[in-house]
Amino acid sequence: MKKLIVAVLAVTAFAGSVFAADVIEMKKGVSFKHKAHIESVKECTKCHATAAGGKIDGFGKDMAHKKCRECHTEMKKGPTSCKGCHTK
Ligand code: HEC
Ligand code: HEC
Ligand code: HEC
Repeated sequence: MKKLIVAVLAVTAFAGSVFAADVIEMKKGVSFKHKAHIESVKECTKCHATAAGGKIDGFGKDMAHKKCRECHTEMKKGPTSCKGCHTK
């Protein structure tokens, strides 16, 4: 039993550190805290097509402004002003 728990923890740590950066630097000074978002949003499929995650098709200005801001508005959490996301 103990061995199994250790193995599960090892896999989780591996997935967290290798497949996606904790913070993804985007254009115009946006630091997207991927790990922090996973902790507060919980479900990968809120942003990704599948639970495996990965590159998002067509990701860019228009999608970001719609999707990122929409959720911040709905949850009343996270920035909705230009400067809240764009630090430069
Ligand atoms: C709040 C939105 C959000 C949530 C929740 C989220 N992600 Fe992401 N994730 C992103 C964005 C945005 C990118 C960057 C997409 C791009 O550049 O095309 C990304 C990128 C990734 C990448 C690719 C990294 C790279 O540089 O190739 C993986 C893998 C990934 N996410 C996995 C996950 C998994 C697994 C979960 C759930 C445990 C998750 N994500 C939850 C938004 C999110
Ligand atoms: C499904 C909901 C959801 C989506 C989609 C989402 N966010 Fe957020 N975001 C949050 C929540 C919730 C917080 C507040 C976290 C907290 O304070 O606990 C947040 C906080 C933030 C913050 C402030 C974090 C800090 O303390 O520095 C930034 C910047 C941010 N989000 C950028 C983005 C960007 C860029 C995207 C799109 C690529 C995005 N978010 C998509 C829910 C979301
Ligand atoms: C919720 C976060 C968020 C808010 C609020 C936001 N943006 Fe953005 N913006 C982004 C993200 C994420 C991108 C895409 C970054 C990428 O493609 O790497 C982006 C892209 C852009 C780009 C294109 C940059 C390029 O080089 O292609 C411009 C210009 C821009 N935003 C201006 C604005 C202005 C002006 C406002 C206020 C009216 C605003 N943004 C509000 C997150 C945000």
